Amino acid sequence: MMTLTNQNILVETDDQIGIVKLNRPKVLNALNHELMDELVTALEAFDRNDSIRVIILTGSERAFAAGADIKEMSDETTVSIMLKDRFATWDRIRNIKKPIIAAVSGFALGGGCELVMNCDIIVASETAQFGQPEINIGVIPGAGGTQRLTRVIGKHKAMELILTGRPITAAEAHALGLVNKVAPVELYFDAAKELAREIAKKSPIAVRLAKEAVLKTFDTSISEGLQFERKNFYMLFASEDQKEGMRAFLEKRPASFTGR
Ligand code: HXC
Repeated sequence: MMTLTNQNILVETDDQIGIVKLNRPKVLNALNHELMDELVTALEAFDRNDSIRVIILTGSERAFAAGADIKEMSDETTVSIMLKDRFATWDRIRNIKKPIIAAVSGFALGGGCELVMNCDIIVASETAQFGQPEINIGVIPGAGGTQRLTRVIGKHKAMELILTGRPITAAEAHALGLVNKVAPVELYFDAAKELAREIAKKSPIAVRLAKEAVLKTFDTSISEGLQFERKNFYMLFASEDQKEGMRAFLEKRPASFTGR
């Protein structure tokens, strides 16, 4: 296990899993510019690293992240905030090719909830709470909350969360399909790791093209999406992993995938 320390995040690896832990405990992991820059740099480094197959993004037991840093934002004007272009960082996170599992405990609010929704699979502790409280401070979600939450939990529930600012519990988030799995607080990170290990055994190239095809749903009509999926399916027949995976099945042995 290797640990690198940034100012606002902790980065480590465990076998083929890359782990990023948000680490501004005094402000409940509020997402300031510096943290977001470190985060995207770490995620892109894992994305380029052939020995990493799955990424886990997590926070502390008390907070995944309580949102964008309100202190940093409070004096911005329309022009100053636009020129800072903070969402360029978020666009880079959206382009990470490897699967990202969010392991969430405590507060996942505002930008924290939006960051969770940028991940691909969400494991929560029983103490997690999710919400878009921006309305309480006179703004609205800005990092995709109105779009992603609505697609995940539907218009009426999204409206309720975004217009009242009220958070929901992990159990509610699970019932709404926002969260894949809820585990006791002592176990949620292990549950995320178990999922990561399972996915890490698959063909990395197939995992990559599968993630890409699923995400395509959000940008396209069904017929364009089906074409896209088909193209990725055909492409996989150029990989050694496809040959190995299908041969292993026929030879009744486990497959060994290399990502080629
Ligand atoms: C800056 C924050 C913060 C935030 C908490 N803190 N959230 N600082 N930005 N988003 C700081 C507090 O000021 C406090 O600092 C310390 O963290 C502990 O927080 P408390 O409020 O004392 O804790 P508690 O009473 O347990 O309440 C927790 C909480 C509350 C319910 C999560 O902190 C809260 O409501 N936070 C703001 C949530 C929010 O509105 N998020 C959306 C932000 S807008 P001190 O120095 O007093 O100890 C957003 C837009 C996204 O995310 C746009 C795209 C990026």
